[in-house]
Amino acid sequence: MIFIHLFIYNLFCVFNSHALDTFIAAVYEHVPFFPDPNQSPVTREEALSLMNKNIDVLETAVQAAAEKGAHIIVTPEYGICCFNLQRDSVYPYLEDIPDPEVNWIPCSEPHRFGPAQVLERLSCMAKTNSIYLVANIGDKKICNASDARCPEDGHFIYDTTVAFDAEGKLIARYHKYHLFHGEDQFNVPKEPEFVTFDTPFGKFGIFICFDILFHDPAVALVISHNVDTIIFTTAWFNLLPHFSAIEFHSSWAMGMGVNLLSSNIHNTSLHMTGSGIFSPDKLGPYYYNKDTDEGRLVTSELKSHTRNCPTHSLVNWNLYATSIEHFPPGTNVFNGTIFIDEFSLTELTEPQGNYTVCHNNLCCHLNYNILEKQSDEVYVLGAFDGLHAPSKVFHIEVCTLLKCKSLETCVEAGETASTRFESFSLSGSFATSYVFPEVLLSDVQLAAGKFQVLNDGRLVSLPSISSKPLLSVSLFGRNYGKDPQK
Ligand SMILES: *[C@@H]1O[C@H](CO)[C@@H](O)[C@H](O)[C@H]1NC(C)=O
Ligand SMILES: *[C@@H]1O[C@H](CO)[C@@H](O)[C@H](O)[C@H]1NC(C)=O
Ligand SMILES: *[C@@H]1O[C@H](CO)[C@@H](O)[C@H](O)[C@H]1NC(C)=O
Ligand SMILES: *[C@@H]1O[C@H](CO)[C@@H](O)[C@H](O)[C@H]1NC(C)=O
Repeated sequence: MIFIHLFIYNLFCVFNSHALDTFIAAVYEHVPFFPDPNQSPVTREEALSLMNKNIDVLETAVQAAAEKGAHIIVTPEYGICCFNLQRDSVYPYLEDIPDPEVNWIPCSEPHRFGPAQVLERLSCMAKTNSIYLVANIGDKKICNASDARCPEDGHFIYDTTVAFDAEGKLIARYHKYHLFHGEDQFNVPKEPEFVTFDTPFGKFGIFICFDILFHDPAVALVISHNVDTIIFTTAWFNLLPHFSAIEFHSSWAMGMGVNLLSSNIHNTSLHMTGSGIFSPDKLGPYYYNKDTDEGRLVTSELKSHTRNCPTHSLVNWNLYATSIEHFPPGTNVFNGTIFIDEFSLTELTEPQGNYTVCHNNLCCHLNYNILEKQSDEVYVLGAFDGLHAPSKVFHIEVCTLLKCKSLETCVEAGETASTRFESFSLSGSFATSYVFPEVLLSDVQLAAGKFQVLNDGRLVSLPSISSKPLLSVSLFGRNYGKDPQK
């Protein structure tokens, strides 16, 4: 049997003799110099001067990553330019980025296309350090007024992530599809782009920030394009209990069964921090620091091929929850707001127990055992099945166990706790097969090695869970099929 397993493993995982089984990835959390959002449009020279200040910092990180043997480094969204700018102020920062099919090394041929000082510098950084380099900048494309979609100012402007190979060649260009509220300086591409590239250490796919909440291109890159590693450039502000950067991004990697290289910008007053190197079975290393304004390079060795290796078995997310009798509801089930969604909630009043709460078509079951309950701390079990407020553009199915500040104010989850759990088992009757498991410890730390997901969809603790107080345990489902049509 052992030999058969080894054989199958080799058959699926080793594609050719030049391929690497593992590689070293780096992500850099950068404290960007932002342009002044109120400034009137600056000259190209002034724009370049600000962007070069950022690239100087990124260059130091790229050199440090190369010294550590990294094959690829990812730098964040808005790491170089364009944060919070009005549309008419953003032009001097943009370059016209050609389709990578043109086969271009900007470092060697900087004048082949229009002005491209930023692309040239990035390409030279990749080449000099022999490293794949990913960065986020702004792309502009002249459009024709006869195109009904062409903006009045005659340009499409895109939030764009580019990748260079270790020779400095432009190998990928991705235009962000799901812009977040306020990103009005940019346009939405006509169709979502599925951007991938092959390397000796696996197949990569790219998307940006808010894209992670939607099916296209994010899920399709994994399901239909079979990428091994996602490159995720982001400017993500942390929101508890379900949307803290390291928490949500690591759970996406685990739920989808891919590597995810997540690079966030760092700005404590904007609540932006949390970058990491995540894989289906490894929550980190990561960087999360809400106290000081310091960037950080994170590196880690990863498996090159995640998709075809038998490490990630398929989970049937509702198998357990739909096969058991409902536990009795708590003595008091009530409607309460968590963040901004109205959940069905019940309080965990006993040191141990079994509860079921339901909301619309979702029933969540919890079995738990509290090690030492702090009498002033309130924990609830919640269920939510519906469109996520306030914009109601995506449908979520969530089972969650979390600490609330009080029963009246579950809106805010709080960042610290002192109650430790001996064990928990959480499951839900999900209609979706896209469920992301999240476990957060006090002080917003990930619970690496302290929980696991069973094939029947239960999220269960491991014995070491009792070593740290618990903030929240969630199964965060996305039902893409129930999203409103765009
Ligand atoms: C704009 O489109 C019209 C009609 O298709 C075409 O005749 C014209 O040459 C185009 N202009 C440019 C600048 O591409
Ligand atoms: C964080 O962002 C704010 C708002 O854009 C800005 O005023 C501040 O200078 C930034 N902080 C740092 C350390 O760059
Ligand atoms: C609680 O929410 C459910 C569905 O979301 C609703 O049907 C019910 O009326 C609410 N109950 C109260 C007391 O507001
Ligand atoms: C919870 O349910 C399980 C079986 O479903 C049972 O073995 C256990 O005793 C129950 N625990 C409590 C505290 O009721």
